[in-house]
Amino acid sequence: MAEEIIVAHESENVSGVVQIGGAKNSALKLIAASLLGQGKTVIHNVPHISDIHIMSEVLRSLGATVSWENHTLTVDTTDAEGYKTPYELVSKMRASISILGPLIGRQGRACVAMPGGCQIGARKIDMHLKVLQALGVEFSSSHGYLNATTPNGLHNANVILEFPSVGATENMLMAAVTVEGVSTIDNAAREPEIVDLANMLNEMGAKVEGAGTSCITITGVPLEDFRPCEHTTVGDRIEAGTFLTAGALLGGPVTAEGIDPSFLRMALMKFEAMGCGVSTTENSITVGRTQPLRAIDIQTLPHPGFPTDLQAQFMLLAAVAQGNSVISENIFENRFMFASELNRMGADITVEGHHALVQGVKRLQGAPVSSTDLRGGAALVIAGLAAEGETRIYEIHHIDRGYEDYVGKLQSLGARVERVTL
Ligand code: UD1
Repeated sequence: MAEEIIVAHESENVSGVVQIGGAKNSALKLIAASLLGQGKTVIHNVPHISDIHIMSEVLRSLGATVSWENHTLTVDTTDAEGYKTPYELVSKMRASISILGPLIGRQGRACVAMPGGCQIGARKIDMHLKVLQALGVEFSSSHGYLNATTPNGLHNANVILEFPSVGATENMLMAAVTVEGVSTIDNAAREPEIVDLANMLNEMGAKVEGAGTSCITITGVPLEDFRPCEHTTVGDRIEAGTFLTAGALLGGPVTAEGIDPSFLRMALMKFEAMGCGVSTTENSITVGRTQPLRAIDIQTLPHPGFPTDLQAQFMLLAAVAQGNSVISENIFENRFMFASELNRMGADITVEGHHALVQGVKRLQGAPVSSTDLRGGAALVIAGLAAEGETRIYEIHHIDRGYEDYVGKLQSLGARVERVTL
């Protein structure tokens, strides 16, 4: 099959307004949660990206019908009686494991292929299993599939997570909402996408309190009392942060519209510390710069700390900032693959364990590079807009997993970038 790449050229005037889509990491879980509604759930503001298409296929494989109209997805789960998700789908995307919780909640059983997805570290699922075991789920694995059964039924549980895992919090939520009694999740993840999921579950009839804090309380409601709902996905803070990086790198100003600025407080603080101007409205963020970028230290942490999904984009800013920056990656091991690609463009980054020392250089140079993962790939395209000459970005299927019309949106800001079929 012909390979598509992205070709980026040094671009002087990149500025304007870009519309941000619905959050990938929210919409994926909202689609999975629609299983509990047992009818036609309508989800607005869903991005057209390949990860969402995979999750739609997962639902179809269980017997649901899924249809699109613009950015609205209708998932009819009336006849979704399947409980097995095929390897061909799950192996492509780690987030398919999110179907486990709602399958347990609806059917009391599941058979899910072990997840794949971004190659960023070990990305285990032990915490997912532990919280579900606490509810009474029993697991066995064979031939690459994970079998979940509930021979003795489900019971409420009070769990504490070793680490505020986003996925484990969500799976526990989606299973526990149908379990009689009160369950709690301590040290829960606090990401805005968790709040979005809890809001949708409540619209379906669930009783979830405390989402967005580190202690979530779930009062079980019988499955029969769940109903389908109509819900609008929150804006994608990582897509917004990525376009704002372009504003910070190239001067901008760039305005990201369709995003609640409170989702990105830490990143906005870092933009300011690097010398950028930041202004916000209820629904938009603008980042621009008139002075040289300053070096910065960044540590990725669970929300509301600095998001790991913006680490590559800020490493790019640090690469051309004045002075030395230290970036520490605390969420995923092995998430610095991007650094060696950026070094191919003339950056000076040394990685030691989970720290990267970034010594700012004056210019980047265009080079052939490969997307190593979703966010690293998106950052390489922006790097190409600041680099001297031409940058050819390969393996762009990673970018298509999470950014709808990335090239088109950059072009609308004045970037000299295009997709080319080789
Ligand atoms: C989600 C996001 C991802 C984001 C991440 C952290 C989706 C689809 N993806 O991923 O974009 O980067 O949150 O904000 O929403 N871990 C274990 N055992 C487990 C679960 C996780 O060891 O059972 C580890 C992981 O390997 C990782 C860390 O915990 O090192 C964080 O993982 P988690 O918060 O669960 O991230 P995801 O839900 O996979």
